[in-house]
Order: sequence, then structure tokens, then C-alpha cells
Amino acid sequence: MSQKIRAIKGMEDLFEEQSVKIWQRVESEARCLFEAAGFQEIRTPIVEETALFERGVGETTEIVEKEMYTFLDRNDKSLSLRPEGTASVVRAFIEHFTDHQVQEGRFYYIGPMFRYENPQKGRYRQFHQIGLECFGQDHPGLDAEMIFLLDQFLRCLNVHDFELKINSLGSSECRQAYLAALKEYFSEHRFQLGEEDQRRLERNPLRILDSKDPTSQTVIEGAPHLRDFLSEETQTHFLAVQEFLKNLGVPFTVDSRMVRGLDYYEKTVFEFVSTELGAQNSIAGGGRYNRLVKSLGGPVVPAVGFALGMERLTSLLSAEKLGLKNLPKVFFAALDEDSEKYFASKLPEIRQLNAMTMVDWGSTSLKSKMKRAARWGAQWVLLSGESEREKSVVVVRDMESSSQEEVPAHDMIDFLQKKFS
Ligand code: HAM
Repeated sequence: MSQKIRAIKGMEDLFEEQSVKIWQRVESEARCLFEAAGFQEIRTPIVEETALFERGVGETTEIVEKEMYTFLDRNDKSLSLRPEGTASVVRAFIEHFTDHQVQEGRFYYIGPMFRYENPQKGRYRQFHQIGLECFGQDHPGLDAEMIFLLDQFLRCLNVHDFELKINSLGSSECRQAYLAALKEYFSEHRFQLGEEDQRRLERNPLRILDSKDPTSQTVIEGAPHLRDFLSEETQTHFLAVQEFLKNLGVPFTVDSRMVRGLDYYEKTVFEFVSTELGAQNSIAGGGRYNRLVKSLGGPVVPAVGFALGMERLTSLLSAEKLGLKNLPKVFFAALDEDSEKYFASKLPEIRQLNAMTMVDWGSTSLKSKMKRAARWGAQWVLLSGESEREKSVVVVRDMESSSQEEVPAHDMIDFLQKKFS
């Protein structure tokens, strides 16, 4: 026998009925809420030029250094599967929207992203994000509005056990000064850092603050704080974001150590962290990125956005929590050709029923048809064979109680409509 081909490690099939329903609900709530807030859907390609992510996400980030799926196409061009959505949306925004006089846009996207990480619960190599990107304004009220939208979204899905952490990364000038101070501090304590963090010191000392290496933690605790390097303008912006959040009734804590793993942020950054998720506890994260559009070749357009991890979010949800109701399943079993023709003639009406319906074709035995109905999880089976055709009836069988009754064939649709109305 030839060897079975399996799904790639860290990439999962989604097929269980309940899970699929939960994903569909999350997606439809997202469309509804975000479109009501003026966001339009954008679908960008999954593959982009590698340079987009190198320049967009940042060459010294873990994502670009270690986690991208990068390959040469047949023309020796370096392409990568998108590890996140922001860079692609910015590319598309520059390509299609910056000729307009008003350089603004509100976009949302839903789709798969790819990162070559070590798979574990809540961390996959193919995962899905719902993301929002808003171009055109640097107003602190917009940062708060984005956070509020995300908060609303989680609450409308009945998720309440989360915390919102916010921070300000200042402007890039504040960050330059901070980076210099960090570099100096970590260089002085170089040999108390873990090996990987010593390497980060040369490449991007900011990343050390994200380090999980226990060796480095004491040094990290004593490191200078970014908040002491914020300019007056960015401090005022950050205080205003907090004021807006308070007015909107969105609880938050300021985490002055939060830097996020992507290089494009400045000013406000935020993360929604679940208290129920274990190690991979970040449900969503985002922030402001006022320089990215320009650095990818566009004009100066400030922007802010976030993305939420579908796998992490859906692991917090259940059908009950969402109040998902399954439609009743009705199985039509024809035992002879005439009955097949009869059910076929009724298909247009059958599909109008408030139910999931399946017509079973082919002349297998009653027993095998009943088995198939049970495997599908049918609650009702409609049977018709030679004797039913002679009497002009169909048999309606309740699979749970195993009781059954005969219904006149011409009343079948009416009968079902009443049952499932
Ligand atoms: P991120 O924090 O890298 O941000 O990812 C956002 C969310 O995607 C995370 O909070 C997490 O829920 C989910 N996620 C990330 N990696 C994985 C993984 N390997 N497996 C499962 N879920 C994962 C961004 O991607 C930014 N583009 C967000 C943004 C949009 N900032 C501004 N606009």
C-alpha cells in the first residue's frame, strides 16, 4: 500500500460540525460589527514578495528571521507566505487608495497566516486572523475606538474573561533614545543575559524585553523604562487614549514593558490577554503604525489596527455559550425508483424547510439506508417504498423515540413545514 500523506505539522483540518459552526458564527459577527463601524472587507493574496515583510514587519523580528515560509518561484523571485496581514493591507492601500485626494481607508480581513513556530496548544504554523486596519488619522480617540470595537466584539461573543493591556512605544525619535539607553544598560550586564539574548543585544535590544529566558529576567527587571523616554507629545497622546477608554467604560491596565513582536508600531500598542488560555494567552494584539505606509513607498498616512487569533478565540467558545441551535436533520430514504422520483420532484420544497435535509439516492436496503441516516445524525427519516407508494403515503420516523407515523404523500411538505416552523 502506498504511504498516506498527512497534513503538515502545525496545520489543521477544521471539519467537526460544531467547530465549523462556531467559526462561521465568529466570522459573521465580525462582518456585521466591523461593517457597521465603516470597515470594508479586503482580501489580499496569501503570497507576497518577501521584501514586503522584511521591510514591513522588520528584518530583526523573530517572525522574519526565523518563522517565514520563504521560497523562490520559477523565476527566482523570493516570495513568502504572509505571516500576518498588516503589511499586505498597507501594500494594497498604497497600490489602490493613495491616488485619492483623501488618503483614508478602513479595512477588515479574515484569513490564514503562516509562521514556522514550534506548534503547541494555541500556537500553529497555519493560523487564522481577523484583522482591522484604519488609515488616515492620528487621533487618540481612534486608538480608543479600535480597542473599544475589539472589546465589543469579544463581549458580543460572550467572552468576558480577558484583560486589556496597553502601552505607548513613543515616536520613533523617543525610541531611538530609549534603544541607545537599553543597549548601554544590557551591554553593561551582557554576561548575566541568556545566550540568545546576548545575540539580540546586537540585532535588536528591544526584543530582550520580550524574552522568556529565566537567566535574563533579573537584568530585564532592572532595565530602563520606555515611559521615561516618551516625548511630551506622545505622552499627551497616550493619556488621551486612556481618557477615551475610561469614558467608553473599557477597563485596561498599563503595562510599560509590553513592546509587541513587530517593528512597525509607535505610540499606542495593546493586547487582549485571556485568563483561560494558558501559555499562548494573547487573543488579540495591535497598535498604531504611523510610519509604515511611508516606509513601504506610500505617502505619510498614519494608521492603527489589530488582529485577533481565531484558533485562540474559538477555543474559548462553545455552541452553548453562543446560543447556537442546530437545525433538525431530516433524511429522505427512497426504497424504489418511483419513490426516488417522488422525492426528486419535491426537492425544491424540501430545500425550503427550516431544516438540514439529505436525500439518499440509490437502491440499497432499508437497513443500510437507516444506518446511513443514523451516521449522519438524522432526527427524522422519511421513508417511501413500493407499499407506501401504493397507499400514497410516506412514513415519518422519529429516530429518537423510534416511533413512526404515516402521512399522506400530498401532505408531506405541509406536515414538515409545521413540524420545523
Ligand atoms: P500578532 O500579535 O503577531 O499581531 O498576532 C495577532 C494575534 O494572532 C495574536 O494575538 C494571536 O491571537 C494570533 N496568533 C499569532 N501567532 C499565532 C500562532 N502561531 N498560532 C495561533 N495564533 C497566533 C499581528 O499579527 C499584527 N499584524 C496585528 C496588527 C494589525 N497590528 C496592527 N494591525
